[in-house]
Amino acid sequence: MDKYRVSWLEETDETVAIDVALHGDIAQLTLDSSGVALNRRGYRTWNGEAPLRETLAAALVSLSPWRPGMRLHDPMCGTGTLMIEAAMRMANRAPGLTRSFAIESWRFTPSQAFAQIREEAMAAFAPDRIEGISGADIDPQAVELANRHLRQAGLAGKVPLTVADARDCRIDAPQGAFLCNPPYGERLSDRRACEALYREMGLLLRRHPGFTLSAITSHPGFERCFGRRADRKRRFYNGRLECEFMTFGLPARGR
Ligand SMILES: C[S@@+](CC[C@H](N)C(=O)[O-])C[C@H]1O[C@@H](n2cnc3c(N)ncnc32)[C@H](O)[C@@H]1O
Repeated sequence: MDKYRVSWLEETDETVAIDVALHGDIAQLTLDSSGVALNRRGYRTWNGEAPLRETLAAALVSLSPWRPGMRLHDPMCGTGTLMIEAAMRMANRAPGLTRSFAIESWRFTPSQAFAQIREEAMAAFAPDRIEGISGADIDPQAVELANRHLRQAGLAGKVPLTVADARDCRIDAPQGAFLCNPPYGERLSDRRACEALYREMGLLLRRHPGFTLSAITSHPGFERCFGRRADRKRRFYNGRLECEFMTFGLPARGR
């Protein structure tokens, strides 16, 4: 008001969201250039049971020992978030390729620049690079949703998904990585079944000696049920649940 010598600013223009963060007696004002939250990539429209946020899934992919070119399998893929984020990374797909950002509609930013950035990102997207990524889930509906999400991400047919029980999982490759978000057994009635499943996950890794296994869970007894101590751990919040992301089977020099 001092600067423009007015006592009132008319609301005559477009809406621009401003975030205000207070730290002691300092207020930091920032323009929200994203709009809808960044985890909304635009491919997930049907949420299954306990899906991971896309941004958390992307972080777990990065923190796992998997690197593009290696074999990767999620034996409990649910709606496919982990596999889709890994495939997007392998295909060099910009995460926000098909969503819009608030900044694109601002009058005072150059819309031509955004069109050009989007064009460049589209040209860099190489879905034919995707190979060696697969997933499975015991629930046929989850697999159907995951396939729908793959199509919506422009990745149809690039990540084979099957309806299968993780307890029977066998991957025909000498080396690779399992990455998963198993059920946590938050309800007491589910706890026993989850603990039995964690034991089976330990056996799954034993059947695949050249593999690593990374999993995120809030269950405090995961390592006990799995049958060994994790080689690497990192704490996360999945929504409001405090979780640990654990990796097993790392060679000694990777721990
Ligand atoms: C927490 S959800 C995974 C969510 C997934 N990360 C997503 O983003 O949608 C756990 C999944 O494990 C699956 N599941 C539970 N027991 C299983 C088993 N024995 N074999 C395979 N999948 C199983 C459930 O059907 C469920 O989809």
